[in-house]
Amino acid sequence: MGKDGVLGLILFLIVLYGAWFFELGFSVTVTYDNKALIIDGKKRILQSGSVHYPRATPEVWPDIIGKAKEGGLDVIETYVFWNYHEPVKGQYYFEGRFDLVRFVKTVQEAGLFVHLRIGPYACAEWNYGGFPLWLHFIPGIQFRTTNGPYQAEMKLFLAKIVNLMKEENLFASQGGPIILAQVENEYGNVEWAYGVGGELYVKWAAETALNLNTTVPWVMCSQSDAPDPIINTCNGFYCDDFTPNSPSKPKMWTEDYTGWFLSFGYPVPYRPVEDLAFAVARFFEKGGTFHNYYMYFGGTNFGRTAGGPLVATSYDYDAPIDEYGSIRQPKWGHLQDLHMAIKQCEEYLVNADATHQSLGLYLEADVYYRTSDDCAAFLANYGSRLDANVTFNGRSYFLPAWSVSILPDCKNVVFNTAKVVTQKSVGDATFASSASVSELSLSTSPWSWYIEKVGVWSNDSFTATSLLEQINTTKDTSDFLWYTTSIEADEKKDAFLLIQSLGHAALVFLNKKVIAFGYGYHDDASFNISEKISIAQGSNTLDIISMMIGVQNYGPWFDIMGAGIYSVILADLKNAKEDYSSKEWTYQVGTEGENLGLDKTDLANSSLWTQGSALPVNQSLIWYKSTFLAPEGKGPLSLNLASMGKGQAWINGQSIGRYWSTYLSPSTGCTTNCDYRGSYDAQKCQKKCGQPAQILIESYLMNNAMQVCMGKQKCSVPVSTGILGNPCPGVMKSLAIEALCSV
Ligand code: GAL
Repeated sequence: MGKDGVLGLILFLIVLYGAWFFELGFSVTVTYDNKALIIDGKKRILQSGSVHYPRATPEVWPDIIGKAKEGGLDVIETYVFWNYHEPVKGQYYFEGRFDLVRFVKTVQEAGLFVHLRIGPYACAEWNYGGFPLWLHFIPGIQFRTTNGPYQAEMKLFLAKIVNLMKEENLFASQGGPIILAQVENEYGNVEWAYGVGGELYVKWAAETALNLNTTVPWVMCSQSDAPDPIINTCNGFYCDDFTPNSPSKPKMWTEDYTGWFLSFGYPVPYRPVEDLAFAVARFFEKGGTFHNYYMYFGGTNFGRTAGGPLVATSYDYDAPIDEYGSIRQPKWGHLQDLHMAIKQCEEYLVNADATHQSLGLYLEADVYYRTSDDCAAFLANYGSRLDANVTFNGRSYFLPAWSVSILPDCKNVVFNTAKVVTQKSVGDATFASSASVSELSLSTSPWSWYIEKVGVWSNDSFTATSLLEQINTTKDTSDFLWYTTSIEADEKKDAFLLIQSLGHAALVFLNKKVIAFGYGYHDDASFNISEKISIAQGSNTLDIISMMIGVQNYGPWFDIMGAGIYSVILADLKNAKEDYSSKEWTYQVGTEGENLGLDKTDLANSSLWTQGSALPVNQSLIWYKSTFLAPEGKGPLSLNLASMGKGQAWINGQSIGRYWSTYLSPSTGCTTNCDYRGSYDAQKCQKKCGQPAQILIESYLMNNAMQVCMGKQKCSVPVSTGILGNPCPGVMKSLAIEALCSV
């Protein structure tokens, strides 16, 4: 056995030993210094990725985590979603997709660490930012500030989660995978709005977290006033310029956006991997030590979990693992290469500060020395336009614009962020049909339907002489609230109906016939409707169904932002106005179909459903139902709702989310070949202009195993001169094929 062979064997044994040590659950201490997190006495450079457990199913967690590990991650980061864990005050739920303990153990089994962001505020484009709605109804409560009722509940929930983790021995000191915990989330962005109460709240949140004795460090992200010993961390598209608030804390990045989230009516954002890799490499070049991709796998906002307003069901995020659990290339592979290159520099990065050298305009080197002739270096061209040749340590290097080269031995470039060598062709399954996602047509399936009643449908309705705010009225038990009133007229006449809504959409009926539809958008969900209507002599009925599409999850005082109709005015053609806002209105929460349970499987064969060949189409409020046989295979299955309008879909009684296929994004603002060079922001690179944000919804019930080799059992690569070049007599050529398989 040669020298390399011996080295290989030794390394292999060390790795095995490490994994065994970790999985058998030995106590590991986690501390930090100014250079790094110190795990079991060793300073670490850590790559982390966000995977939110309820955005996938327990059956696919191992596959996703396995792909994250193979991609070079050390840590999985997740929020904890309070509203689903405590749907009713004091009643906890940790089953199915919300089985947090199982998720953490799944990560542990893969041999990775966990960063648990308990919050309990999450943001995350999650309904109400993760807060349970009942919290809002506690008398005197004010969220996220110095307020007794709020602090009492926050403290209880933090303790509930920490204790649950302790009972299951999941903290590192107990032999578990959790090495880090987060309290609050980006409070620093909104603290100004809460005045002194906000400043005190930061101190209180820190103290409350520390008192829980997790034995692992706590972080607060985007919180420059995080009290010691809590580590303040950076969130953003770039974090190389970030410095923690104390020289004793390591430089950590908790949210590096791999793309951006999607909203109904918006184009699909994407982030070129060259820029993402550049941002990551710059961070480590500048002394970074812990880095997390938000999201590494985004997944799906099943049911009504999407935040608001108008966040779409897909949370694909252009992440390295796509919504369906497939590896997204070249993103995943290019980042895998980057992680390997950075790992090779670990010993240098954690033990030294960088020595900086300017190599020209926008050109620089940061060198980490172990001894005077043993170093690792990063060479950067942070100019966005010009490629450059630089000289470093007497050698010449080519640096494309907006790129970083990594030299683990200060000589050889093992990676340049702009040179993507990973193959590009593996399908982007998320927004186009591809080999890895099955589609089957249901147009010939047997369909039945139920037409919703317009307006009040039960004795549970109630009246008020004002327009009620929607969330306070429905308590978010449904997306829908009916507002009904009558318009009396001495004679038949035309008039203008002017409706103002805080959001998010509304369908208006006059005498049970649809007359108007209005809606807002993610950045501003409020809207007005102005419609010329014909009023009949006598009594006319005005029914408005106001619709929510996710409760607000972000911003100062987001928890009290309202929704629903707030002004209704009738103006005759001479502009004489009659204000209906304080007339008598009758309210009905939810739709009749929801109340009947038409989404449930036990009503699947009920006579409530009408069957027949003349399926009504273009109806404003209707339920459709069909049955189908799941296609063969274990790959992901999605539902193509391109032909539908707006609604929600269920499979086997489980809501797979909202759809809104008729809401098209603006026709301009997209670019197919977005230039990765120069600063990225969420609007810079977008696709699918003039199209619905999303037409496919993932069916998680079917998706309980990922495909092998991207859905293929076998594949072939033609051997041609196109691939191997022209034949030269006497020259042997070889072809290497790498198949990425995971079971
Ligand atoms: C951050 C927030 C995350 C997520 C992200 C956008 O500000 O911390 O939870 O909402 O923005 O996807």
